[in-house]
Amino acid sequence: MAAELMDGKLLAQEMKEELKAQVEELKSKGITPGLGVILVGDNPASKSYVTSKEKACERIGIFSDDTRLPDTITEEELLSHVDRMNRDDKIHGILVQLPLPKHIDEDKIINAISPDKDVDGFHPVSVGRMVLGQETFLPCTPHGCLKLLERYDVETEGAEVVVIGRSNIVGKPVANLLMRKDKPGNSTVTVCHTRTKKEDLLTHTKKADIIIVASGFPNTLTADMVKDGVVVIDVGINRVEDASRERGYRLIGDADFDSLKEKCSKITPVPGGVGPMTITMLLFNTVQSARNRLS
Ligand code: GUN
Repeated sequence: MAAELMDGKLLAQEMKEELKAQVEELKSKGITPGLGVILVGDNPASKSYVTSKEKACERIGIFSDDTRLPDTITEEELLSHVDRMNRDDKIHGILVQLPLPKHIDEDKIINAISPDKDVDGFHPVSVGRMVLGQETFLPCTPHGCLKLLERYDVETEGAEVVVIGRSNIVGKPVANLLMRKDKPGNSTVTVCHTRTKKEDLLTHTKKADIIIVASGFPNTLTADMVKDGVVVIDVGINRVEDASRERGYRLIGDADFDSLKEKCSKITPVPGGVGPMTITMLLFNTVQSARNRLS
């Protein structure tokens, strides 16, 4: 069986058309949605993510306040930028790109972002509300995974879901969202991670209806580990050397796409799966935050 591709690029495009219309409507009411973006240092991957986020904002009419800071910045100075954005009425969402340099306490910075502008959904108040099933900004990558499952008619109610990875950004929140009494949701969720025994990982993945791979390592999931017809969402983005490419590398996920596509019923490609959805959900949260000003 050849798998159906869950096309994140296409879904992102559809959603961005809708968001663009909402931005127009907000502008007609005197509100231009604004995103404050803080990038510290010059990590190439972070720079590339931040540039993609800013370009995406521009394309749908969101204004972005780009603040690039050297990695010698102190915690106090960084906190003062967050505070400035908290108080700026033109800014509806704040994104501090992670990771931050080692001398800066990431938790302290995230805690300083006003929960009303926490479009990344990383603040403890946002996380708490999410776990309790209350209205809040949902973290972008997990929310993007849910949108893909919904768009491609994947039944999550009663489904055996295995999440591989327990990060604060993906594993923990996506597991939480899928066990909520909601749609998509109502799944039976198992979380596997680096300390899960190999034989246990296999037991879980072999009976899973849906597998979300967010381990950060290529080939974490291979075809021999799954049953026929499984749905695979691959959150990984890994750079592997490839001299035949102009930039010297290509991107692969955490799952072995080539073997899995013969066994899955549906699978996300890398690139073009979860990646474009992450950015789109950031735009979604920023527009939502601006709309909250209307009420
Ligand atoms: N670093 C990796 N992913 C993310 C993300 O979604 N948001 C932020 N702020 N930093 C990240």
